[in-house]
Amino acid sequence: MAGFMKATGAVAGLVTAAVLFSAPAQAAAAAGNAANGKTVFADNCGICHTETKGGAHKVGPNLFGVIGRKSATATGYTYSAAMMKANVTWSADTLKTYLAAPAKMVPGTKMGFPGFSDPKEEADLIAYLQTVK
Ligand code: HEC
Repeated sequence: MAGFMKATGAVAGLVTAAVLFSAPAQAAAAAGNAANGKTVFADNCGICHTETKGGAHKVGPNLFGVIGRKSATATGYTYSAAMMKANVTWSADTLKTYLAAPAKMVPGTKMGFPGFSDPKEEADLIAYLQTVK
């Protein structure tokens, strides 16, 4: 019992620390932590995408200003036939659905990304993408 109490206290301490640490950025971005989202982007997307203004297309298209953009409209990038006819506007909601399972939302997409399983990372990532415009 004593051991259990001690462990619970330690977990509560960690949670408190995490909440305190992320509070300022949360306030700035409401839905998620954009600063952490930048790291999530670098770790999960950066190998195939740039997100800077005028950034190069890599395996995937440049994602500057992607929120609010219609699918398959980055100039100079060759999309799959599937993405060409997907006809979605990228918003926090459509991105969430897409990133959870790209091939499920756009069957035949050539984006080789299995999908997110961590809702917090995804919220942070979307908060970050909202700042690249
Ligand atoms: C292995 C490479 C790869 C990774 C990793 C990857 N993507 Fe992609 N992404 C692509 C490719 C290729 C396309 C083009 C898909 C098509 O044409 O079917 C694409 C397309 C997209 C599109 C549609 C863009 C448009 O102009 O319509 C979005 C949005 C997107 N990716 C976001 C992301 C995000 C966010 C991540 C990280 C969580 C990510 N991608 C990770 C390769 C990747």
